[in-house]
Parts: sequence; C-alpha cells; structure tokens
Amino acid sequence: MPRAVRYDRYGTVDVLYIADVATPAPAADEVVVEVVVAGLNPGEIPVREGLMHDVWPASFPSGQGSDFAGRVVAVGSAAGSAAGSAVSTPPIGAEVIGFTDRRAAQADYVAVPANQVTPKPAAVDWDVAGSLFVAGTTAYAAVRAVGAEPGETVAVSAAAGGVGSLAVQLLRRRGVRVLAVAGEANHDWLASLGAVPVAYGEGAERVEERLRAAAPEGVDAFIDAHGDGYVELAMRLGVAPVRINTIADFPAARKFGTKSDGSAAAASADVLAELAALLAEGEITAAVSATYPIERVREAYTALAGPHSRGKIVLRMR
Ligand SMILES: NC(=O)c1ccc[n+]([C@@H]2O[C@H](COP(=O)([O-])OP(=O)(O)OC[C@H]3O[C@@H](n4cnc5c(N)ncnc54)[C@H](OP(=O)(O)O)[C@@H]3O)[C@@H](O)[C@H]2O)c1
Repeated sequence: MPRAVRYDRYGTVDVLYIADVATPAPAADEVVVEVVVAGLNPGEIPVREGLMHDVWPASFPSGQGSDFAGRVVAVGSAAGSAAGSAVSTPPIGAEVIGFTDRRAAQADYVAVPANQVTPKPAAVDWDVAGSLFVAGTTAYAAVRAVGAEPGETVAVSAAAGGVGSLAVQLLRRRGVRVLAVAGEANHDWLASLGAVPVAYGEGAERVEERLRAAAPEGVDAFIDAHGDGYVELAMRLGVAPVRINTIADFPAARKFGTKSDGSAAAASADVLAELAALLAEGEITAAVSATYPIERVREAYTALAGPHSRGKIVLRMR
C-alpha cells in the first residue's frame, strides 16, 4: 500500500505516524506524482502542535508537507489545459518539482493541480528539488518585496537558514551588498556566497552595533527570517517600513506597517521553474543537511526543531 504521514490530533512528534492510504486518482485538472523526496519546513511544527489553530486549523486525519519532487504517474483529463501558468503540463514519467496546498507532500503519491509542478532539471538533485518550494518561493517573495537595487545594502536575519541562504544569493545576483546575520559556524560559508557575515547573540544591541559598524552609510532594506526583535531593530536602523519584509513576526509587521510577503506571495510553478533553472546553472546553491526515510519522520522533525546544521532536512520515500 502507498504510505503517507498522518496525525489525528495536535501534539508533539509522537502524534505522527505512517498510514497506508489509497493511491490518489487525478481530478480533471490534476496530475498525480510518485514522490521521491518531500521537504520539511519549520512552519509545519506549530501547525501540528495546534499553536496555529486559529489561523490555519487542521482537519483530522491531517497529512503534512508542501514541498516535493517526483515522477508524474497520472494526468487528469483536462490537465493539459491548466490555466494560470506558462508552464505546460508534464507527461507521464516526467521528473517534476512541485507543491501542494493540502498538507499532503509527505507521502508516496500526491495529487496536485497540473499548474503546481514544473520539470525538474536533471542537474538539480532530488533532495534539493524536493525541498525547494517553501524556502525558495519565500526567499523570492522577500527579495522582491524589499525591492533591492544594485549597490544598495540589505541585511538578512537567519541568513544561513533555508530561506535566508537563498535570499542572500538572490540579493547578491542583483548586485546588492548583503549583511548576513548568522551563527559564527556559518560565517565562512556566507562569505563564500559574497555576503558580509554579522554575528547574532549577546543581545539585540550588539547585533545592532555590528550592523551599524558593517554599514556606516546605512542599511537600505531588511529581510527578517527569524523574528524576535529584528523588525524593531530594522526600524531603529532607520530602514523604511516599506523596505522591511518579515516572514516570522507578523505582529511586528502590523505594528510598524512593514511587509510580510512569504511563500504564498510567490507560490507558482513559474517561480519554481526560475529557481530550478538558477540551481541547474549553478547560479545559486541550496544545502541539504539530512535525509530520513519516511518511516523516521518523527526523528526528522525532532532534528528540525533543535539546533541543526546548515541545510534542509528531507524525507526520502524509497
Ligand atoms: N511566512 C512564510 O511564508 C514562511 C516561509 C518559510 C519559513 N518561514 C519562517 O521563517 C523562519 C526561517 O525558516 P527557515 O526554513 O529558513 O529555517 P531554518 O532553515 O531552520 O533556519 C533557521 C535559522 O535561524 C537562525 N537563527 C537562530 N537564532 C537566530 C538569531 N537570534 N538571529 C538570527 N538568526 C538566528 C539559525 O542560524 P545559524 O544556523 O546561523 O545559527 C538558522 O540558520 C521560520 O520561523 C519559519 O517558520 C515563514
């Protein structure tokens, strides 16, 4: 039987289990993908714990996961005419990168609208492809939101994370000077991506001091991928609210009138295709730190919730 990650009530990783499920049949506008790799994202943890119930309630049994890469095994009767994307429907057997809005990626098979997949370039490895959607589209949206221009200075918090590291590279491609706030273990790597590493820790004032020292002429824009005071810090640095984007502190975004574009603002196969092409051409890189078989999903989320080394954590289906 095909397998899928499930949970029947909110709770710790212990509520997660592997269920035997039926292979989905495609609706008219859908494709069914045999998943090779599905990504994990930190935002899935508070959803599973019930902390986001008022905003994004779960209906039980709930599946899990947005990011996947795999092979198309079925195409719906009208999928060839999928609207809203320049990307044409891939045929059966095609290797694709995709996303689902139904918390369903962590499974052997997933059915999605045909305009939610894009061909996987052969040069992009499965683990990177299977964890591209949320981090990639979020970084893309955040960079677009702050409108960075060549020669400007942009600070990024959580710069070594899944989102932050892609944002750093997209900014560098725009000719921007990037101040990358990250743990010291990641400084050499961020410098190799062309960023100026800035340490966090020892209190918000110290980060502020270091950012001011790294950019005496000022910071033009700020991408916050961590929350916990970075929006306020950006305001203290004199960054205009319209040039601050947080993906992690929505109360601060409302309080100061900053932007908060995340994955949903760039969730399309066209954006995925653009990011996949950049990866295939070696223009950007994405790290994967750990792979787990689907059966070890609890361990994978335990690792994600704790201090983890640089890169995405993914589930392999076989
Ligand atoms: N709104 C959306 O659409 C959206 C989408 C994706 C993610 N998110 C949110 O964005 C955040 C980041 O996601 P991610 O996938 O990039 O996470 P991730 O890959 O787990 O990375 C987290 C990063 O946080 C950094 N960090 C820890 N403490 C920090 C501090 N005090 N200051 C600066 N950085 C610190 C760590 O840096 P070091 O390793 O260098 O120590 C680590 O690289 C999460 O809160 C997630 O829920 C939102």
